[in-house]
Amino acid sequence: STGTGWWTYPQDIKETTRNGNDLLVLVNKEYKLPSTYAPSDLVKASNSGIRRGDSYYLRNILIPDLTAMITDSKAQGVDLSIVSGYRSYATQQSTYQYWLDKNNGNVAYVDTFSARAGHSQHQLGTVIDFSSNEINDSLGDSFGNTKASKWLVENSYKYGFVISYPLGYESTTGYKYESWHYRYIGKGNAQEMVNSGNIL
Ligand code: DAL
Ligand code: ZN
Repeated sequence: STGTGWWTYPQDIKETTRNGNDLLVLVNKEYKLPSTYAPSDLVKASNSGIRRGDSYYLRNILIPDLTAMITDSKAQGVDLSIVSGYRSYATQQSTYQYWLDKNNGNVAYVDTFSARAGHSQHQLGTVIDFSSNEINDSLGDSFGNTKASKWLVENSYKYGFVISYPLGYESTTGYKYESWHYRYIGKGNAQEMVNSGNIL
């Protein structure tokens, strides 16, 4: 172990006890998914009408709510695209390694923004990294200043989506603010979170 910052993984890492298909399964730095877990209902994100959806997979369970979200946002003049969706355990392993290689093996730095294999919510198939034509479908911090991001902050919970890594919660989540990363937990659960004041 090299430190005790907010980005640091705990000594004792546990495998999740809830099934990966559970919309509320806890996946973070302390709890990881089994390497063998993959959702069984993956479909192309394009089934929802989201732009760039042909390149990414998501769980079928969220498609109806995502379809409504895309239809309504579009009607309100807001453009949303998808720039990442489901990532397998193996894909996450290479993604994390890519960032490590690119940053001279600086684990502490990479752990602030990229999950190690098993620890990524993307393995659930219920996470979308959003972008917009406002920023030419790029992924990153500039998304936070778009109309699309402001629309999601106001409206995404109505469709069951909540932000995973909010600004100011770095020491809780273990990750830097990600304005683009939303997880589907279902409309009822998202409404409950809003009511309890536990997001944004
Ligand atoms: N960027 C988020 C933390 C992930 O790698 O899942
Ligand atoms: Zn993400």
